[in-house]
Amino acid sequence: METDDAPCLTTVENLPENDSFLFTVRERDGSEEEVVLVHGDDCITAWKNFCQHETDQRLDRGFGAAMRDGDIICPKHGSMFDGCSGHCDNGKAAGSTLVSVDVTVDDGAVYLTDRTCEFAHEGGIEEDDEDDMPSSSSHLSF
Ligand code: FES
Repeated sequence: METDDAPCLTTVENLPENDSFLFTVRERDGSEEEVVLVHGDDCITAWKNFCQHETDQRLDRGFGAAMRDGDIICPKHGSMFDGCSGHCDNGKAAGSTLVSVDVTVDDGAVYLTDRTCEFAHEGGIEEDDEDDMPSSSSHLSF
């Protein structure tokens, strides 16, 4: 896979085995989607950041995906997904496979080479926190 124009996500050195890196991509329809890049058992792969049992459950909740022996562990019910194939053969998510995002390792660097989306930014989807503004008290009357 050509990496000439592909954005560099990180380096293999910065992503030790059983570690993960969260980033956000923009899909063709303009929507944003979180992706978790993982270093599994002799592989580096990327997956959309949600479980296949309950798709509103994030695998990486903003502080790294839980991983053991190259498997990604769902934080809700503990199903383990193979970090290389994305497949799960245990627990509530048994028989399912994570949604993959194409990445390519070239000369020690990891590139996003998925043609269906583009890199937006590191980290998860930024919440629009305008709704969290403290409400004005100027309308109080006595
Ligand atoms: S939500 Fe992931 S195993 Fe249930």
